[in-house]
Order: sequence, then structure tokens, then C-alpha cells
Amino acid sequence: MCGIIGCNGVESAVPVLINGLKKMEYRGYDSSGIAVLCKGKTVTEKKKGRVAALVKELERKANSEAQIGIGHTRWATHGEPSDENAHPHQSGKFTLVHNGIIENHTKLKEQYLKLTAMKSGTDTEVAVHLLNRFCSDSCLEAIAHTAKQLEGSFAFAVMYEDEPEKLFCVRQASPLVVGLGEGTFAASDTAAISENIHTLYRMNDGEIAVLEKDRISFYDFELNRITKTPDVFEKSSYTADKGSCEHFMLKEIYEQPEAIRRTVEAYLNENGFDLGLKPAKPERIFIVACGSAYHAGLVGRRVFETLAKIPVSVETASEFRYSEPLVNEETPVIIISQSGETADSLAALREAKKRGAKTLSIVNVKESTIASESDFVLLTRAGPEIAVATTKAYGAQLSALYLLGIYFAESFGTADKNELEEMKKALNDLHKSVSAALNCEEQIKEIAHRLKGIDRAYFIGRGAGFAAASEGSLKLKEISYIHCEAYAAGEMKHGTISLIEKDTTVIAMNTQTALAHKLQSNIDEVRSRGARVIAVTSADSKINADETITLPEVHPLFAVSTQIVPLQLLSYHIARLRGCDIDKPRNLAKSVTVE
Ligand code: G6P
Repeated sequence: MCGIIGCNGVESAVPVLINGLKKMEYRGYDSSGIAVLCKGKTVTEKKKGRVAALVKELERKANSEAQIGIGHTRWATHGEPSDENAHPHQSGKFTLVHNGIIENHTKLKEQYLKLTAMKSGTDTEVAVHLLNRFCSDSCLEAIAHTAKQLEGSFAFAVMYEDEPEKLFCVRQASPLVVGLGEGTFAASDTAAISENIHTLYRMNDGEIAVLEKDRISFYDFELNRITKTPDVFEKSSYTADKGSCEHFMLKEIYEQPEAIRRTVEAYLNENGFDLGLKPAKPERIFIVACGSAYHAGLVGRRVFETLAKIPVSVETASEFRYSEPLVNEETPVIIISQSGETADSLAALREAKKRGAKTLSIVNVKESTIASESDFVLLTRAGPEIAVATTKAYGAQLSALYLLGIYFAESFGTADKNELEEMKKALNDLHKSVSAALNCEEQIKEIAHRLKGIDRAYFIGRGAGFAAASEGSLKLKEISYIHCEAYAAGEMKHGTISLIEKDTTVIAMNTQTALAHKLQSNIDEVRSRGARVIAVTSADSKINADETITLPEVHPLFAVSTQIVPLQLLSYHIARLRGCDIDKPRNLAKSVTVE
């Protein structure tokens, strides 16, 4: 992951870089650093830990008047989080920041840099030494030559002391945008520079940008000039404001109803659907995603199969991309991604396109690479999500999948028309039920007090309930570090039930009213072995457990949307009571742009 930033021709580079890094901390927070050119000399400051640690360090130093600089926030891939491994890295007159992985760094070191002493344990350092080695007098030529030697993914911002009026940027398989404003700017994410620019260019793979004070020139790796047209760009509404909430995660859980309302209203109004999509009924659909987006996909499968009667395969992108997927012109592929930049999901999209499939992406970031490369985009309207653990974006992804499911059923004539009309009404009102579900927070706080000391938990459910269980389990483990597992309720008895002891916590998701009695048997099985079971259910479906969280009645197809709310809140409150860093859990990053 990592976030990189650069600026040139600004009044003062340091605050611009720091401001941008703060906005990209979601990309990794193992270390951060900046380098500026002051009177043609490189001045670097880098520090293990958060951007706040770097800011503290900078405050102790004299303020720099530099007008050009680069910055980095790191998610460690090669080399532990440390001051030495923090970017920028320097070699001779070159300084560089990198997002991505240079996969052939060991080979390159043996081939070209046998006698060069490495100061860090990173893959990145090889690149900056290569620049130094290959440079005769033109930085641009050195960059093009270096880029052609590298395998893997990289977005670089580079400064060179002998060309102090230029900032160089390169993109190959890692996100990078550049823009013009009062100066020129580059970043991994538009949000980091959106307040500085009026014109934005998305860089494509195999491109180099040279940023002077007031203009940007583009080249390919053969140094042919490229003419680019600016991207449509809306100023980001990003604020680092938690409102009255202690953490972004809680604020975002509370923003979930609005995210759902906006997503649904964007595509469904009183005249019906406004999707601009004319689907023919396919033989099969693939849904591909990572993390929570994959869990949303599992819910999507239930919805599509139930309503549109199409078989659906749901795959994690990291598996799909190397699995020789049975995808062709006849099998549309749906990619789900909040960021639209997840490396595995992007690679899966490209693999699907290569095989001739039509691609549809459900994405939250309009300017993202996945959105720009998909044949059709269904934008979720969750707004910027800051907490690493996704909540409102996941909620919005579910609504997008419901929209598609109902739309497919209507287009293919695979469900009763009246029922579909009922569903549309229910979907328009879903945000209200999700809003009402938030009322369970006081009950959840009490449960969190009781559970804060547990060392493991099991989440069970059937059908969509299993998908909800999977997401609930991920939420709790990623922010509280409690070992959690999700199981299809009926599968427990085939092994995992041997782990149930007195007072083991089991959380049971009852999303399928028709299967409530089956889930009840599974609950009874674990309770009779000592488990304490908390059941999550809708008001219209009774379940016996040690404790029940009862949520407002909702159309059964959409039950995951309300039932996930108590699980998100429970994870939040348990993590808070355990003193965990909720918005930035250890070892994680929000946008995973490496394999
Ligand atoms: C990371 C995040 C998860 C997210 C996953 C996929 O692991 O921590 O919250 O679900 O990436 O991200 P995407 O942006 O593609 O939805």
C-alpha cells in the first residue's frame, strides 16, 4: 500500500506534504517521511510510526522554505517498520518515494549493485540506487531506463538535485494522479491533493510525468511525449472531522443509513430504475472482491440466485486472478471494491477483461482505477470512509447488490412483478430500518462490557446469515485482535463444535426466517455444550438464546443490512474497552495496492 505525494512550485512544501500525508494515512501508518530541496540540497526527515510522530520531529527543526518536495506514508512489505526503512530513500543526488513492490529487487541488486551498501531492508532502495547508477545527466532518461528494469508494481515520486526545478513521477501498476493548481502536485490518492488543484490527470501504467512549477509533461518509457486530457474532477468533501464521535469508525457506522439512502436513490426513483444497463440473461455471473467487499459479494450471490435465477460464483480476487477462471464473453464479472484500487481486485478485473468478459464494478471512489477500467460502474455513495475497518461502504455495497438483483429479476422476468414492486419500496425504505437498528447501541455496550475479556468467538448463520457472520467475525478480529471464526451453522458439528466449552461465545445470525428452526437446533447444540449464545434476529422471527438482539422488521432479503449493525457496534465497543487503536488497527491498511 503506502501513500506517496509530491509538490512543486508551492509557497511552502512542508505543510502541503504533511497535510496530504495525513489524508493518506489510511494507506499505511508504519512510518512516514518527507524530503525537500532547499537551495538545491536534499533535506530529509523520516520517522517510524504515525505522521503525528513526523510532525513532532519537524516542529523541533527550523521551518523549511522549500517549494518542492516529496512525502510518504508506509505500510511495510519488505523490511520492518523503522526509521531506516522509512521513505524517502536517497542515493547520491536522487531522492525517491515508492508505493508498490519491486519483485526483482534481489536480482537487480546482484546484477547492478553488488558494491553498493544498502542502508535499509526495503525493496525500494534498489530503485533509487539504479537511478543514481544509470544517470549521466538527464534524470528523465535515468528514470525511463530504471523503470524498464523493474518488475512488480511501482508509483514513484523522484527529486534530483541537479534538476531542482523538476519533480518526476512514474506509474506502473500502482495508483498515481497528478494535478495543476498554484503549483503542481502528485499523489496516490486524489483526496490528498484535491484542495490544491483545479485540474487532474490520472496517470496510466507505463507513464512518466515531469512536474515543473506551472506545467506537467507526460512521456512513455521510450520517452515519447504523450498528450493527455484532464479527468473530470470534483473537489473532495473529505474532512478529517470525527464530529462528536470519538472515532471515525463510530461516525461511519452512524452514517450508514445515509450511505444506503444515497446509493439507492441514485439508481432507483419513482419511475423505476435508472441504471443505464441493458443486460441479457447470462449463464453465470462471477463476483470478485477482497475482505468485506467479498463478504458483500456472498450476500449478493443469495440475492441474485433467489431473484434473477442465475448461478453466481463468488471468489476472492487473490484466488481468482491465478485460478484460470472459467470466464468468457458470456460470463459477466462484477468487481466490488470500496477504494477501487485494491491490487488483487484490479488484477482480477483485468484478467476478466482479457478473457472477454463484460465487467461491472461496484466502487465507492469515482476516480479510482477499477472504476475507470470497468465497462460499467455502479457507484456507491458512502462518501469518504476513513476508518480502516469498513462499515458504511460495506452497507452501501449491499444496497448496490440489492438494486442489481431486483433489476436483473425485472429485466429477465424471473420474479413475480408485484413482489418486485414490494421489494423496491422496501429498498427505498431500507435506510430507515438501518437507522432504527442503531438504537441497539445501549444493549450492545452492556454486552461489550461482559465480552471485553474473551479470547475467542464463533459467528454462525445460514444462507445470508453466514455471509453476515463472516463480516461480523472479520470486524471483531481486525479491530479487537480477538480470535474469531465464522461458520455455516450446520457445519459446526463437523469439527469446530469440539472447540466449544463452558462460556465460549457464539453469535448466531438469524437472517433467514424460513430457516430459523434449523438455526435454533444449531444454537441448542452449542448451548448444551456450554456455549453462551447471543442471537441477532429480526422482530418477526423468534429465537431462544442466552441473549437476543432484536432488530426492526425488514424485508427478509435485506436482513443482513440491519443485522450487521449490532456486529459493527459490538466490535467497536469491545475494541474501545480493550484500548485498541480502532481507526488504525495494527498491521492493516485500508487500501491494499500490493499483492
Ligand atoms: C482492506 C480493508 C478492508 C477492505 C478490503 C478490500 O483489507 O482493510 O476493509 O474490505 O481491503 O478493499 P476494497 O477497497 O477493495 O473494498
